[in-house]
Amino acid sequence: MALQESTALDFYQTYFEPMVYLDYFKMGQSPVGDDCLYFLLKHYHAIFKSGGLKGKLLIDIGSGPSIYQLLSACESFEEIIATDYTDKNRLELEKWLKKIPGAFDWSPVVKYVCELEGDRDKWADKEERLRRTVTQVLKCDVNKEQPLEPAVLPLADCVLSSLCLEAACLTQEAFRAALRHIRTLLRPKGHLVLGGGFDTTFYMVGAKKFPCLPLKEKFVCEALQKSGFTIQKLETAPRAAETMSDEQSDYTAMFVVVAQRND
Ligand SMILES: C[S@@+](CC[C@H](N)C(=O)[O-])C[C@H]1O[C@@H](n2cnc3c(N)ncnc32)[C@H](O)[C@@H]1O
Repeated sequence: MALQESTALDFYQTYFEPMVYLDYFKMGQSPVGDDCLYFLLKHYHAIFKSGGLKGKLLIDIGSGPSIYQLLSACESFEEIIATDYTDKNRLELEKWLKKIPGAFDWSPVVKYVCELEGDRDKWADKEERLRRTVTQVLKCDVNKEQPLEPAVLPLADCVLSSLCLEAACLTQEAFRAALRHIRTLLRPKGHLVLGGGFDTTFYMVGAKKFPCLPLKEKFVCEALQKSGFTIQKLETAPRAAETMSDEQSDYTAMFVVVAQRND
């Protein structure tokens, strides 16, 4: 592993503060957070709603301390396995799953997704459903050939990764390698759903700056194709003009891509 990559990993373990990061997901309080969140929630809803992607097992790669990305998928997958590189993120996620006092309040986000699904009032049921559906929170490193080792899992019907790969992979080669690594978790013809930002060089977590690999649409599409995927859907939206003065991150657009493992 290149020095730059291993340094980046230690940086996450040491400096990524889950509760500070979660400020992005306090709806109405972070222009950048809202911009990313509304885009991703809308598209995950479209991808996982009735008639969309479904199956037995979904693995979420680099979940962080977050659950927003699983709120639609938990209606169409029997089991979800969440993963992250840092111990603090996995603990923070477990805190919400186990309803431990002091856990982040996701209820405004859950209510919004329930509204997209047609019934805002069922938010408490959805929280319980998600808690039942997420069966494990595992250690993950996308830079490893087997990202979840030593865990041995059945092949997933779907792998999801939201705002993770551009943070976890700081070179184009590392990004391509991570796609190949993640592919090993997916059954043939299974689906990969990636959500992220274009052109991001950094995002802030409190006063700490986290570097990112600036992605371009052409690079992401070529990397997926070369890693054995066929792109089925690509949605993009430019960053909202009113967020431009927010210096929390410098992404220029958001994207969600759905790709199918070829064989
Ligand atoms: C911007 S956060 C996104 C978290 C979550 N998916 C979300 O959307 O809120 C980036 C995440 O990537 C994780 N990460 C960093 N390096 C990683 C690696 N090598 N393998 C897996 N995850 C990694 C971090 O711990 C962090 O949780």
